[in-house]
Amino acid sequence: MNLTLRVWRQKNAASPGRIEIYEAKNLIPDMSFLEMLDVVNEELMARGEEPIAFDSDCREGICGTCSLVINGVPHGGQKGTTVCQLHLRHFKDGDTITIEPWRARAFPVVRDLIVDRAAFDRIIQAGGFVSVSTGGAPDANAVPVPKDATERAMDAAQCIGCGACVAACKNASAMLFVAAKVSHLGLLPQGKTEKDRRVSNLVKAMDAEGFGNCTVTGSCEAVCPKEISLSCIARLNRDYAVALLRGKTA
Ligand code: SF4
Ligand code: FES
Repeated sequence: MNLTLRVWRQKNAASPGRIEIYEAKNLIPDMSFLEMLDVVNEELMARGEEPIAFDSDCREGICGTCSLVINGVPHGGQKGTTVCQLHLRHFKDGDTITIEPWRARAFPVVRDLIVDRAAFDRIIQAGGFVSVSTGGAPDANAVPVPKDATERAMDAAQCIGCGACVAACKNASAMLFVAAKVSHLGLLPQGKTEKDRRVSNLVKAMDAEGFGNCTVTGSCEAVCPKEISLSCIARLNRDYAVALLRGKTA
């Protein structure tokens, strides 16, 4: 396969960025999108040019590090798929592909396609800890948890903190991410003790980081590689309202 790549290049957060064109030739359709960028970078370095900076770690869809907007869609538009799990067979020979970083004020560009997602780390830190002693591994079976609560908590726990939900949202809202954290901890009995404090601290931290409000467009759910449900946002709103009524806000 041969592809034409339109890639966002930006030296650092203070420099203006621009789109540059690269020809990627003799690619194998079973290559992943990131392997294709590795090939392009090897050619750039062989010519003495700066490689394209992009983030990745596990390349197995579990760490949330890879973060590219491909043809205007975070993670490239394959349902439930991270960029690292996206393969070239989903494109056509001769295609022109535009590759950009996440775009959100709370995620400043570090270089080229890499953005700083430390805002998510600070939100998670604000959530605090679970004080219930959960015991050793054998004790896990001694705590009865309703099957439905386990299923929904584990679905929410799949969030890998990639930030695609923010990148897709016209308001750059982090509600789906925060809602996933609220659901996965708040649904389990061990997480209920700090439930009110946790939800109010998470929302406060989210607002302080400059993420926008949710207007329920659903774009976050549509691009989420872990298919986190919008119903988590409904739970977040409910839990936050209850915390307010109980006067348990931070
Ligand atoms: S909710 Fe989905 S899109 Fe948002 S950070 Fe979590 S995994 Fe990524
Ligand atoms: S590199 Fe870890 S999810 Fe893509």
